[in-house]
Amino acid sequence: MDQPLGNDRTATARAHSNIALIKYWGKRDAALNIPAVGSISLTLDALSTDTRVTFRSGLEQDEFWLVGTRADATRASHLLDIVRDSSGVGSRAVVESTNNFPTAAGLASSASGFAALAVAASAAAGLSLDDRELSILARRGSGSAARSLFGGIVELYAGTRDDGLDSFAEPVLPPETWPLTVVVAITELGQKSVNSTAGMGGSALTSPFYPAWVDTGKDDLAAMRLAIANRDFEQLGELAEYSCLKLHGLMMSTRPALLYWNAATMAAIHAVYELRASGIPVYFTIDAGPQLKALCLPEHAGTVADALGQVAGVQETRISTLGHGAQLLP
Ligand code: DP6
Repeated sequence: MDQPLGNDRTATARAHSNIALIKYWGKRDAALNIPAVGSISLTLDALSTDTRVTFRSGLEQDEFWLVGTRADATRASHLLDIVRDSSGVGSRAVVESTNNFPTAAGLASSASGFAALAVAASAAAGLSLDDRELSILARRGSGSAARSLFGGIVELYAGTRDDGLDSFAEPVLPPETWPLTVVVAITELGQKSVNSTAGMGGSALTSPFYPAWVDTGKDDLAAMRLAIANRDFEQLGELAEYSCLKLHGLMMSTRPALLYWNAATMAAIHAVYELRASGIPVYFTIDAGPQLKALCLPEHAGTVADALGQVAGVQETRISTLGHGAQLLP
């Protein structure tokens, strides 16, 4: 049923995706989506999501439109319910999202999506939340989204409180301070097989490595904070590769196994090793999917992208600098 425009409460927000250097995997509380470990990430300028939220009276259920196609609204509704509870807005909403990257490339990260949704939904409902409250709201939608509220290098705290109010993200370094570059090598078009939420639940229940993963997380965070404070790129890169491979070891030891790599992912890892042996400081990281992200300094981005572009099975490369935090659009 169409309502006059005057009844609509609407806002639009943009958020960038991010890639974790020290990875989040596992939940301390699944209902409140509190992570079991802290994480540190880079916000990526080249990958962003724009989301418009319109609360409309008379609408019977929330609608979620992803790049013009109606999609499952369950996870968006969950976040919208939190906003409705705290604002008193009762209406259902239409959520319209677009990405500035090919959605089919499996890069569609929940991070940029839920960060943009948190900012747009809270503004549309008339809530004025500060950055910390927005980060907590985004985290309720997806853990990695808490980090996309901010630009540059960002840390998400696991916190210790049962209500999750000390589990939020904060900026560590603004994007201009240290111009790091990320080259994304897309090795597969299409969506990943097991989503992160289900995957990390499986790891916690079945992997004998999971307790060690949680126990050692703090050391990795401390080492990474030091590398960042010292602007030590090689240390940052080594720690990022270590956290990535430790995560994938945990994933592979999960039952059923989570093996997200394909042959091109492996070939791209070796291409990074070869570049490094030839004197170019470049390091890789990989999330719950087959795409490889190479970390390098801006002066090497072209060489790294060329080398990864030549790896058999790499379909496309994208170069990204560090991006800014989530914002409302006019
Ligand atoms: C491998 O943030 O997608 O990308 O909180 O269940 O939505 P949920 O998980 P999500 O997991 C991200 C996992 C990761 C590592 C990371 O981004 O830190």
